[in-house]
Amino acid sequence: MKIAVIGTGYVGLVAGACFAESGNDVICIDNNAGKVRLLQKGGVPIYEPGLEELVRRNRHEGRLTFSTALPKAVRESAVIFIAVGTPQDEDGSADLKHVLRVARDIGRAMNGYKVIVDKSTVPVGTAVKVRETIGRETKHPFSVVSNPEFLKQGAAIEDFMKPDRVVIGVEEPRAAELMMELYSPFTRTGAPIMVMDCASAELTKYAANAMLATRISFMNEVANLCEAVGADVDHVRKAIGSDKRIGPSFLFPGIGYGGSCFPKDVQAMIRFASDINYDFRILQSVEAVNLRQKTRLFAKIKRHFGRLKGKTVAVWGLAFKPKTDDMREAPAIPLIEALLAAGARVQAYDPEAVTVARGIFGKRITYSPSNYDALKGADALAIVTEWNEFRRPDFARMRTLMRSPIIFDGRNLFTPEQMTQNGFTYYSIGRR
Ligand SMILES: NC(=O)c1ccc[n+]([C@@H]2O[C@H](COP(=O)([O-])OP(=O)(O)OC[C@H]3O[C@@H](n4cnc5c(N)ncnc54)[C@H](O)[C@@H]3O)[C@@H](O)[C@H]2O)c1
Repeated sequence: MKIAVIGTGYVGLVAGACFAESGNDVICIDNNAGKVRLLQKGGVPIYEPGLEELVRRNRHEGRLTFSTALPKAVRESAVIFIAVGTPQDEDGSADLKHVLRVARDIGRAMNGYKVIVDKSTVPVGTAVKVRETIGRETKHPFSVVSNPEFLKQGAAIEDFMKPDRVVIGVEEPRAAELMMELYSPFTRTGAPIMVMDCASAELTKYAANAMLATRISFMNEVANLCEAVGADVDHVRKAIGSDKRIGPSFLFPGIGYGGSCFPKDVQAMIRFASDINYDFRILQSVEAVNLRQKTRLFAKIKRHFGRLKGKTVAVWGLAFKPKTDDMREAPAIPLIEALLAAGARVQAYDPEAVTVARGIFGKRITYSPSNYDALKGADALAIVTEWNEFRRPDFARMRTLMRSPIIFDGRNLFTPEQMTQNGFTYYSIGRR
């Protein structure tokens, strides 16, 4: 099948590469000419495990191409995915300007029946708006499909290739058939393709992210309570997770969720609910709890030291989660800003996110070439992202590098007993 993907970011590039891998001819479009040039030369602008290899192979075999020319891509394709960003507007709502601009440009370029698929995360009613926008520009027939994406950064290819389910919101049977055909290579293991109306598909994406964010905020509250009453959140987490109705995943406390999706999608859902006079109270609390949780590691550091002026804090991990270079809404940002504002020096290490971090902090912090280098002369270590390579460090070496052996662990990588044995003063989340 000939496919165009408009918007070559985390979602668009992964989707494009995976559709090419399953034998389709895919053209990825982006209006960022620098990004397109890099991709045309064989580069990959983001870090995502396995992506570089997948892009390289499909580019070499001629199934994956990159361009800025949207009209030509639309004319040559049967299916056109919209995968541009839907950033947060000032009032918290999803800003649809990129989606609707692309819809308009698609409409202007139409030369026959096309299926236009919205893969961006968009509020209920967007499929209708996309249909109207395209309809104003063309007399050619077309179908609009809502196909939200559930991939996780850091495991995006695996998630796309072996999804738990595929959600397809669609109004016409012929578009549904085409989408089923397109996704059939990814659902051979029996994952369901769930066909529904567009409004339900659009809402499914927000409900899924909001539910996951709710679990995180809930567990963060439980962890804070554990600290206050002298309980251990690890015991509580494992015990409640063994209840089949609850399940063990997504119960890890930490220093708040970040990334390009949960914060903005929770806010967008609150907003589009309030637009129809529905007060989504749980989500307002989920959001408030998350903002507070992001300040907790700094509060622990401040409480320990009192004055931070002149102190050096090593930070392990900058990305909002492991296996990505993405720092959008990363908890590292408010932590580091608070440390700097309090007069501390920051020596940071991240395996992938340093280039992105330079764009945020510039020369205000030091970027260390390894996690051990970051510890040189440090008064404390703050662990912010749970990269696997941080899980089994050489504690003796760490102690010799640090000025004082104090760890503030925002991800509970170690046990308090292990840290005491290794001679560290250790603060973590939800444990004594
Ligand atoms: N990142 C994730 O993990 C994830 C997961 C599921 C869903 N989503 C959703 O998918 C959408 C895209 O997210 P992302 O993380 O890939 O965003 P991104 O910012 O990484 O990529 C968006 C791309 O679209 C391009 N673009 C913007 N306007 C354009 C235009 N008019 N024409 C062509 N290209 C244009 C940008 O240059 C950018 O490269 C969002 O709605 C997001 O909420 C993201």
